Amino acid sequence: MKVKNICCIGAGYVGGPTMAVIALKCPTIKITVVDMNQERIDAWNGPLDSLPIYEPGLDEVVGQVRGRNLFFSTDINVAIHESEMIFMAVNTPTKTEGKGAGMAADLKYVESCAKQIAEVAISDKIVVEKSTLPVRTAEKIKDILEENSSDIHFEILSNPEFLAEGTAIQDLFKSDRVLIGGNPSPSGQSAVQALVEIYAHWIPKEKILTTNVWSSELAKLASNAMLAQRISSINSLSALCEKTGADIDELSEAIGLDHRIGPYFLKASVGFGGSCFQKDILNLVYLCQYFGLEEVAEYWHQVVKINDYQKNRFAKKIIDYFKTKQEKRVAILGWSFKKDTNDSRESSAIYVACKLILDGFILDVYDPMVSAKQIHNDIIYTLKVYHEFNQNYLEQLVIHENLNTALKNVDAIAVLTEWEEFIDISNNRIIEQRSIKIFDGRNIVNNIDLVDGYAIGKAL
Ligand code: NAD
Ligand code: UGA
Repeated sequence: MKVKNICCIGAGYVGGPTMAVIALKCPTIKITVVDMNQERIDAWNGPLDSLPIYEPGLDEVVGQVRGRNLFFSTDINVAIHESEMIFMAVNTPTKTEGKGAGMAADLKYVESCAKQIAEVAISDKIVVEKSTLPVRTAEKIKDILEENSSDIHFEILSNPEFLAEGTAIQDLFKSDRVLIGGNPSPSGQSAVQALVEIYAHWIPKEKILTTNVWSSELAKLASNAMLAQRISSINSLSALCEKTGADIDELSEAIGLDHRIGPYFLKASVGFGGSCFQKDILNLVYLCQYFGLEEVAEYWHQVVKINDYQKNRFAKKIIDYFKTKQEKRVAILGWSFKKDTNDSRESSAIYVACKLILDGFILDVYDPMVSAKQIHNDIIYTLKVYHEFNQNYLEQLVIHENLNTALKNVDAIAVLTEWEEFIDISNNRIIEQRSIKIFDGRNIVNNIDLVDGYAIGKAL
């Protein structure tokens, strides 16, 4: 089967960049990315320098294909109707209420997409799970599709996305692997081949892995869990380094040089953030509990617990340092969960900032990419969910558009995102003149041993 029209539901961090790259590599396929969020779609159709997502290289790709074979729209029904293949790239956050609250993935957006597809479709469709989903979700989707439609054949594929934010375009151009899970039936295998053909436009065939649906769904959760587990492993050792005089960067290098271990994801930090690691591991933990695998659930839960420990440990270092000081004022440098993105979802900066606000600190926040509105919203949301929110807390928050004004009145700075402009911060004149204490949550600050500094996993 040759696919000529694709619809992607969800114009977010995954839907936007993945479809832009497919459009670039497959000029004969018309792709329509739809979303119920009008503001987001308007931004995708607006100026290239203010697309709703910041990703290096994304503007260039969108510039080449938008209006040619890539379209952004809120008219979901028309796009479903016209397409032979529909990707679901909607959000799957952690449930906040009901059974599994705080652990399981909330599938309401996926389920509502399935319902809408079934109601609108008048021809057979291949439905592709692009969102990260619990294993066996395809079964649920098929039930919804079949309950709400008759005489139409739906084939469900799992095609999880492995891109990382900040390097999305690069990752999509040169994926380590593309994973496609399908049903073993002839129609299932023909759907798998239709998707293989799309990726084969630029991904070498040996990197396109086809499996059964359940392996594909579970492989996505397992990949994220294994990556996050490496970070928690190295972060747990950072605490031991501080007690013993070992240096965490030297330790990472020594461990990572073993080719069986490798050097990636061994950088100690204030804790991993991002919209997916925590939610996907909690989802995995929930699944294990559901199937009665308590020990397995506990094993993976520790990855998240160590991450919480690391964020709290870092905040406590700052709180302890200020115990004898009259004024508690700290510059928070970096708000996004990693460099080269404007995404702050689950960023460790939010958690450290909330802890400090609750302890009475005034915070001067600076991030080169995240908007003041977003920073405000993150604080309000997090305090509301985990603590008691009080409007006065917002008076403890001063957001700056430039680094130097953020440093002006503080006694300490906390580096929470590894933006390049913070690397030489110890040479900043304001810091030198006022001997400001540096808490480096990313171990990126040059010459921190020459100034009054704390760095994760280092006995300075
Ligand atoms: P996102 O929140 O940025 O985007 C999701 C979009 O879906 C939103 O714009 C929302 O309005 C839209 N949406 C939700 N329900 C809809 C509906 N019924 N109809 C139309 N639009 C609807 O999310 P994201 O970061 O792109 O993540 C999407 C999925 O991909 C998640 O499951 C996530 O775990 C997974 N994932 C994310 C990343 C990443 O780097 N962000 C990487 C790999 C996988
Ligand atoms: C991660 C995975 O890397 C992607 O493969 C996956 O597709 C994606 O999650 C997803 O499913 O959403 P992402 O969260 O965008 O991608 O970014 P990462 O580079 O993995 O970083 C996650 C967090 O871990 C960041 O806060 C980062 O600073 C931190 N990190 C990463 C460390 O603290 N140390 C490291 O060595 C690496």
